[in-house]
Amino acid sequence: MRLDKFLAECSGNTRSEVKKWLKAGGVTVNGAPVLKPETKIDPEKDVVALQGKQLFYSSFVGLMFHKPAGCVTATQDRCQKTVMDYIDHPRKKDVFPVGRLDLDTEGLLFLINDGDLSHRMLSPRHHVPKTYEAQIAGEVTKEDVQAFEEGVDIGEKKKTLPAQLEILEVNAGETPTSQIRLTICEGKFHQVKRMFEARGKKVTYLKRVSMAGIALDEVLKPGEWRELTAEEAERLRESC
Ligand code: URA
Repeated sequence: MRLDKFLAECSGNTRSEVKKWLKAGGVTVNGAPVLKPETKIDPEKDVVALQGKQLFYSSFVGLMFHKPAGCVTATQDRCQKTVMDYIDHPRKKDVFPVGRLDLDTEGLLFLINDGDLSHRMLSPRHHVPKTYEAQIAGEVTKEDVQAFEEGVDIGEKKKTLPAQLEILEVNAGETPTSQIRLTICEGKFHQVKRMFEARGKKVTYLKRVSMAGIALDEVLKPGEWRELTAEEAERLRESC
C-alpha cells in the first residue's frame, strides 16, 4: 500500500494533509524517516509512526453521520442528493449506510464497511434499539403510551413489538401538538409514522437520536459526520 494512502486511512485526514506531514519529516517507517508519499509499505508488517506515535491499520471503518432532511439514504441516486454527498473521508467508497431513514427524517445514521455487522444490526432477531424524537400533530395521550407498550397493528401479519413512548410536552389549543420520544426494537418500513397513523396521529417532524445504545453526538450539526470511537465500534458489535 502507498504510504500516503495508509496515513490518510489511519488518520481520517486527506492525502494532501498527509503530504504536508511527510514533507515536514514527521513520518518514519521502521524507525527511518520517509519523505516520499509513494513509498510502498506493508500495513501488516511495517511499523509506521507519525511524530513518534505508531499508527495501526484498521480494516473496519465506521462513521457517525447527522443526516439532514432532504437527502436520500442511499449510496447513489440519479435525481436526489444522497447521504454520501456529505461524506469526505479517505475510505468513503468503502462505507454504506446501516439501514435507512426517510427523506424527511433527520438524525443518527451509521455508515460502515462491514456488511455482516450491518446485516446483524438490522436483523429482526437482534432487536437493536432505536430512539426517535418527534413532533406529532395532535395530543398524544396515556392511551397511546399503553397501546405502544402492547404493540400496534400497522397492517402487517403481526403487531409491532412493544415500544416505549414518552410524552415530553403537549401543547394544547385549537391545533394541539405533542413532543415525544419513542424507542423501538425493530425497523419496519416507515415504522414510527405508521405507528402514529394507526393511532390517528401524524408525525410532522422525526429525528433519530440514538441507535444500539449510541447517542447522536451533539457536536455534529445536520450534514456533519465523524469517525466512530473504538468504544462505539465495539458497542455496535456487542448490540448484535
Ligand atoms: N420510522 C419512520 O417512519 N421513518 C424513519 O425514517 C425512521 C423510522
